[in-house]
Amino acid sequence: MASNQDLPEGTVQNILDQESLKWVFVGGKGGVGKTTCSSILSILLSRVRHSVLIISTDPAHNLSDAFQQRFTKTPTLVNGFTNLYAMEVDPNVENEEMLGSEGMDGFLSDLANAIPGIDEAMSFSEMLKLVQTMDYSVIVFDTAPTGHTLRLLQFPSTLEKGLAKMMTLRNKFGGMLSQMTHLFGVSDDFGEGAILGKLEGMKDVIERVNKQFKDPDLTTFVCVCIPEFLSLYETERLVQELTNFEIDTHNIIINQVLHDEEDAESKLLKARMRMQKKYIDQFYMLYDDFHITKLPLLPDEVCGVEALKSFSCNFLSPYESPIIRGKEEVLEQRVSTLREQLKDAEAELERQRKGKQKI
Ligand SMILES: Nc1ncnc2c1ncn2[C@@H]1O[C@H](COP(=O)(O)OP(=O)(O)O)[C@@H](O)[C@H]1O
Ligand SMILES: [Mg+2]
Repeated sequence: MASNQDLPEGTVQNILDQESLKWVFVGGKGGVGKTTCSSILSILLSRVRHSVLIISTDPAHNLSDAFQQRFTKTPTLVNGFTNLYAMEVDPNVENEEMLGSEGMDGFLSDLANAIPGIDEAMSFSEMLKLVQTMDYSVIVFDTAPTGHTLRLLQFPSTLEKGLAKMMTLRNKFGGMLSQMTHLFGVSDDFGEGAILGKLEGMKDVIERVNKQFKDPDLTTFVCVCIPEFLSLYETERLVQELTNFEIDTHNIIINQVLHDEEDAESKLLKARMRMQKKYIDQFYMLYDDFHITKLPLLPDEVCGVEALKSFSCNFLSPYESPIIRGKEEVLEQRVSTLREQLKDAEAELERQRKGKQKI
């Protein structure tokens, strides 16, 4: 049994220390804080690595919101940094450029319909090919919500199926396809052969990258969640699927944790805190060999580099509530909040009493 000293630290320091890491995936349900966490991780990594690229593969991009800077599908230097780049990839747009060879549209869209995910696979592989030629020390992925992410990691088999389907179609229709392309005046460069070649090439890239994804020295997956039943459940599913895909994961970030602070007198908050504690305890029980980082729920959104940087301290040392720190202004704030709440409660009581009299 592990002694206390062997318990994993409750921070992401292990990721910053692991110099061999090349790919860091950040995933979880929508709205739990993936973009916030991946942005902060990339900022922290930029302090210890030569160069860092953060890529959003979530169609609902919000790296631009988090950093308050517009990003595109080519890596752009993040303002205020010399070695941190960001890009946003849309899995549904680029395939048109790739698949859109004239005369082949119908056939390829049939193919895309026959094998769900192949269009995403193509743009993903195209993006990986691009990224591989660039020399970033580490690449952080702000991924789409759970199901989507796991699909990305299944691409080699998706492509395998795609190729098999292509071959069947080819055999079935013989030279008809190429005759058709000739008929429509499309040269062989744009024909079926070229597309088949392209698919083969992509499969190559994806297979190479996938080998890296399965190497725990090179790749890890950070699961972001919140202390609620559904999120705990989703995290367990995610961890199991990652294990099936042989992708390393040993960091969990529990975001939006309520702490015993100025508003703790609120019944609602107290109840929420009790509920959160129940699930946090379960996280610790289920994942006792994981690094579990808890992040406080802030009154405001985490927007802009300054906010991200200041929130990043919670990634490096466990959160300490201001009440424990005992700041005078915090206490003053608490007293005034309590006064407001007392006033509200008295007014409500008054209304209730009046209501009752009428009945
Ligand atoms: N701990 C937190 N406290 C307050 N707001 C947060 C916290 N974490 C994230 N947010 C805010 O919640 C929203 C959703 O977070 P985001 O990182 O975009 O989630 P996701 O990428 O998983 O959809 C954003 O507006 C973000 O600023
Ligand atoms: Mg996001």
